[in-house]
This record gives sequence, structure tokens and C-alpha cells, in this order.
Amino acid sequence: MCIGAEFDRWANEGRDQEMADRHWHTAKHVLSAIDVERGDTILDLGTGSGYALRALSEVTPMATGLGIDASGEMIRNANRYTDVPDIYFIQADFGTIPLETNSVEQVFSMEAFYYSPNPHQTLLELFRVIKPDGRFHCAVNFFEESVHTHEWQAKIPVKMTLWDRKTYREAFKAAGFEVVEQRCIPDEDIEIPPAGDFPFEGWSTRADMIDRYRTWGTLLTIGEVNHPA
Ligand SMILES: C[S@@+](CC[C@H](N)C(=O)[O-])C[C@H]1O[C@@H](n2cnc3c(N)ncnc32)[C@H](O)[C@@H]1O
Repeated sequence: MCIGAEFDRWANEGRDQEMADRHWHTAKHVLSAIDVERGDTILDLGTGSGYALRALSEVTPMATGLGIDASGEMIRNANRYTDVPDIYFIQADFGTIPLETNSVEQVFSMEAFYYSPNPHQTLLELFRVIKPDGRFHCAVNFFEESVHTHEWQAKIPVKMTLWDRKTYREAFKAAGFEVVEQRCIPDEDIEIPPAGDFPFEGWSTRADMIDRYRTWGTLLTIGEVNHPA
């Protein structure tokens, strides 16, 4: 199945909003640390419902927000939810980002990068479109160290890339980025019930749920474009 068709289904079932609510627990920490200056162009890679650009526009004077997504239904919903000038949503694949070279200051991506059929090519595309000193803020919940996320692959009929922290750093460097930061952001917002309530919502033990949300949470890797002088 192609990625667009899978996420069209999610959008039509209202899962775009559900994802946004859940991802916000850690995405808000990533977004609040992005250094947006007046006039900047911000790209949201795999935008889903488009919540990230709407949230950024409330607190920053950016010039243009651009959300891309392979799913036409996600794009349709994102446009429907957005009543903010200068935010645009476009159906496009990560493989060929429809932007000019050196045209964006910051890229944000939450829970989307690992769906790329060719993540190395996607990193090269991002390196191409980001201006010098600009950054790619890549946030993922599905990664090697977070073992309780691995089972997601069996539930999704598209190939997901499972990298560990070191592989993320190496791939960013291979594409030309300097890795300026990498850390795990715990999800402190999700409620974890007392041990006696388990099994709970698919979790066998409280320790497993703590490992997934509080120990590992979201892996953030930030790559900066530093062209030699
Ligand atoms: C799990 S959702 C996350 C959406 C949003 N960033 C959020 O935090 O809720 C992943 C999104 O990435 C999009 N996506 C996945 N692979 C893609 C690709 N190769 N090109 C463009 N979009 C893609 C999907 O259509 C989907 O909307």
C-alpha cells in the first residue's frame, strides 16, 4: 500500500486530530525551542493536521509556513482547520520537496521522517532546501532504543525505518548536517496508572509503559546547515 492511501484512511477516520493531541505532549517542547525570526519560512515535513504550523504562528512572526504531506486527505483537513494567512499545505512526497534550494530557515517534523521510503535521500533534499545556519528538527517516537514502539510496524502496511540514536546522527552527518543536539524528551503528560490497574490499554505492565513514555518518549535530533566559509 502507498503511504498516501494509508494516511488518507487515517485522516478520514479522524485520526489526524487524535495524533495531533497525542504528539503535542512532546512536540510542544520541540516547537518552543525553535528559533524563529520575523520573515522566516518554516517547513513542516509530514504535517498531518497541520497543528504545528498553527501553533508556531500564534507565538512567532514567521513569514510563511509550509506543510507538506503525501496524503491528499491530510492536506484537505489541514486546510480546513487553518484560518491563518501565509500558511500553506501542499501534497508532496519527502523524496522531492517542492522548494527551491536555500529557501527555508527551519524544518520541523514530528513522527513522520521514518516513513520516508529513502530517508538518506530525504536528508539530502532537506540539506538542499535549508538555508545556511538553518536547522532540521527531527522528532520521532519510533526508534531502536524505544523497544515498546517496535510492534507498530506490524500494524502499518508501509515500511518504517527503525534507526537507533547513533544511526540518526551518522545519517545526518552523511547528508552534510552538523548534529547540534540529540536528546530524548519524556512524555510527562500521559497518565500512567498504578501497578494494580495493569494490564491497561494494551500495556502488560506499568514498567513497560514507563519505559515507552517516561524513559524514551520522543527522540529529537537537530541538524544544522553549516556551509564552509
Ligand atoms: C504519523 S503522521 C504524523 C503527522 C503529524 N506530524 C503529527 O505530529 O501528528 C505521519 C504523516 O507523514 C506523512 N508522510 C509519511 N510518509 C511521507 C512521505 N514519504 N512523503 C510525504 N508525507 C509522508 C503521512 O501522510 C502522515 O500524515
